[in-house]
Order: sequence, then C-alpha cells, then structure tokens
Amino acid sequence: MSLSIVILAAGKGSRMKSNKPKVIHDVAGKPMLQHVVDTSKSLNPEQVIVVIGHESEQVIETMQGQNLIFVEQVEQLGTGHAVLQCHDELKPGNDILVLYGDVPLIRLTTLEELIVKGQKDNVVCLLSFDAANPTGYGRIVRDESGNVTAIVEEKDASDDVRKLTESNSGILYIRGSEYGELLSELDADNAQKEYYLTDVVKHAVNKNHNVAAVICGDESEVLGVNNQLQLAEIETIYRRRRAESLMSQGVKIVDPARIDIRAEVIAGQDVVIDVNCVLEGQIELEDGVEIGANCVLKDCKIGRNTKVQPMCIIDQSEIGENNDIGPFARIRPETKTLNKAKIGNFVEVKKSVIGEGSKVNHLTYIGDTEMGTDVNIGAGTITCNYDGAFKHKTIIEDGVFVGSDTQLVAPVRISKNTTIGAGSTITKDTPEGELSFSRAKQVSISGWIRPSKNK
Ligand code: UD1
Ligand code: CA
Repeated sequence: MSLSIVILAAGKGSRMKSNKPKVIHDVAGKPMLQHVVDTSKSLNPEQVIVVIGHESEQVIETMQGQNLIFVEQVEQLGTGHAVLQCHDELKPGNDILVLYGDVPLIRLTTLEELIVKGQKDNVVCLLSFDAANPTGYGRIVRDESGNVTAIVEEKDASDDVRKLTESNSGILYIRGSEYGELLSELDADNAQKEYYLTDVVKHAVNKNHNVAAVICGDESEVLGVNNQLQLAEIETIYRRRRAESLMSQGVKIVDPARIDIRAEVIAGQDVVIDVNCVLEGQIELEDGVEIGANCVLKDCKIGRNTKVQPMCIIDQSEIGENNDIGPFARIRPETKTLNKAKIGNFVEVKKSVIGEGSKVNHLTYIGDTEMGTDVNIGAGTITCNYDGAFKHKTIIEDGVFVGSDTQLVAPVRISKNTTIGAGSTITKDTPEGELSFSRAKQVSISGWIRPSKNK
C-alpha cells in the first residue's frame, strides 16, 4: 500500500526562546526537521506533507527543493486538527504515518516495524514506550487481554491511568481506507479543548477495528525537543549513536563521548580516531587510517594507512595512501595528495596537488600548485599565488629541491630536478637540473661595532 507521511511541525516552540522556529534548530549540524524528513524519505513514501504554522516562511525556506508538501495550520487546535488540515493534499486511500518535526531521533527500523505491523491487519498502530517519567505523556490503556483500547491524555486521566507508564510517543500509523472516517469523528470535547489525534484509537476500537501498538525499547528515539536543554541532550544521544555505528563498522574510537560525528562516514578496518575530533559532511577513511586528537575533518577521503597527527584540519580534500599529515597542518579545499606524501607542522595547502613521495615538512604555504613526485620543500617556503587581484599557478616538477625560506612568485615553473638555494625569491622559470638562487652576496664587515648603551 502506498504511504503518505505527515510531519507535524506547526507548534510554536516558545520554550526554545528563539526567533527561529523550533523544528529548524540544528541537531548535529542539520535542522531537526531535516532529520525527520531524511528518515521519512528512506521509507519511500508517495508523499511527505509537513504541517507548519509559526514562522512558516522560515521553515519553507530552510526545507525548500525537497519535494515536500507544506500545509499551513493557521491556528493550532491540536494534533488531530493538524492532520485534518492535510485532507486536500492526502492521496485518497494511502496509508498514513504521522511523525513529528521535533522528534528527530526516531529510527528507520522502528518505523518500518510500525508500518509492517499496521499493514498486517490493524487499522491503527501506535508507537508506545515505557517512560522513565511518564508525566505529561498520553497513557496507553489496555484491556484484560492486553489489547489497546485508548490513549488518554495526562490532563484527562484518572489517578489510576496516570499510574500507567506505557506512554504515547505520538507517532502513529492509520490505514488509508479508514482514515477519513476515523478523523471525521474527532472533536474537542476534552480538558484542553483540542482535537486529539490520539482519539482515533478510541474511535477505531468503537468500530471494532484492530488496534495495535509497537513498543519502542529505546526511549531516546521518541524524545521530543522543547527547550535548549533537551536539544543539547538530543545532540549528545545522536553523537553517541553515530560513534556506536562507527564502532560497529570496526573503527576504534578512543572515547565515544569525545567525538563529534556530523558526517556520513565510510570507514575501513583498523581505523583509529583519537579524542575530540569533529567529522562533518561526507568522509571516507580507508583501512588503517589513524586520526590524532583534535582534528577537524570535513568532506574528505583519506587513503590507506595514512596517519593524521593531532590538531589538523582537512577540508574538501583527498589524501593519498601512507601519507603523514601534521601535527598542525591545514589542508584546504581542492587539495589532493598522492601516495607517501608528507605534510608537516604549520603547513597550509590550498587547491594543490602534492605528488607521490613529496614532502612539505615545516612552516609553509602551498597554494594553486601542481607538484610532481619526490619533491622536497624546505621550511618556510611560500608560493606567492596572489597578486592582489588574480591567483596564479606554481608548477613544481619531479625531483625538485626547494631550500628553506624561499618565495616562489607565481606564475612560475620549477623544472625537473631543479635545486633552489635557501632564501631565494624565484620569479622566473628555472631550467632543468640546475641550481637556481637569488640572494644578495654575503658580506662581512670587519671592525664593525655593535651599538650599545654603555659608552
Ligand atoms: C502529544 C500526544 C500525547 C503524546 C505526546 C508525545 C496528542 C493529543 N497527544 O501530546 O499523547 O504522549 O504528544 O510528545 O496528540 N502540533 C501541531 N499542531 C497542533 C498541535 C501540535 O503541529 O495543533 C505539533 C507540535 O508542534 C508538536 C506535536 O504536534 O510537535 C505534539 O504537540 P504537543 O502539543 O506537544 O502534544 P502533547 O500535548 O505533548
Ligand atoms: Ca509535547
């Protein structure tokens, strides 16, 4: 059966104390609502409808271009009312799954289980959980045989019902053929004068339809975000989950509480990540890669057995196999290093190729450079790639040796096997295999007396 997903996101979220609507606050660098949308899309629904209300323009702007249907709920008269607003958009007959923009950690597998159970032979299938502290949640009421008979909101509950700990997550499956009828029965005859979506359970039971529940064993999946503290807690849980998933791929994470994974990570075997690393975007770490403490990796691929020492930043770059990077290296976008390259401390590389076996060991800036194999760049070398208006290229061919404290003023070509004397400012192409340097002749002045304060 085709599926329509409805994501409720109209609430104000006033306890966030923010001008931004709650559902677009980030969890691990991505809006909460985006997490829910991404999980939704993995279920291959025919449509995803997002119910918005407060600051709806901001939500639409953040979430645009993803083939979502936005439905405005001008007045928030309850969760049932929110779903009713979708009537004109919902494809008739489609099964419906209701999710929440502020419940970002729900797992795909849990939703799959809910849908499978619903579609089997139930008209309503809800997701419940055993709450550590059920205060505030709707409670699941079951009869003697254990069948769900109702969800009762805390504010409408008797003392006995309040003692129940099985709680409603809010997430719910409704069979398409029955949904119209069940929703048309909703009213606001309750303590909060709201249209409760949860009342579909009561109405389904009255019509002798099968109602079932999937009990979610992991409460963190159904946690909602209402304030900054809960947002931070959700972030911590998410971070831990990502660390666990990497560890299950075989990655050794030195301390799973001290790593920030905001990335899609593909990792090979025997990868080690030391403490306080931040991973963002799309990351690929091949077998045997070691990442030292305090590194920031973003959108990069790191080849087999490469060692990244502490305090490095690697951004939108591809690092070859058996490289030795850092400590304190900054590798900026569009850099590619080939195998056995070495980029040492206080080296910045931007939009450059570092050839096989080439070494840039200390205190150097390499920008817009194409470097061949087995090049050695001395300490303090600078490629002067920018003339104030334009960027120019430096070509450093195979086997070049650049002495320390050299400026290579681009555009310039350092031909094969050139040696450049230390302290040179190179403005012209160098001939193959020769020594080139540019520096004033050293002079010594005999009898010169160093200034001093004592006469
Ligand atoms: C709801 C459930 C309750 C469940 C709890 C889980 C109902 C009646 N109650 O209660 O059983 O235990 O969630 O957190 O459904 N929303 C709209 N439009 C509205 C009202 C709500 O979009 O008119 C959205 C909110 O933005 C929020 C979500 O629906 O994301 C839940 O609304 P909320 O008012 O927090 O429901 P609860 O009273 O907590
Ligand atoms: Ca709530």
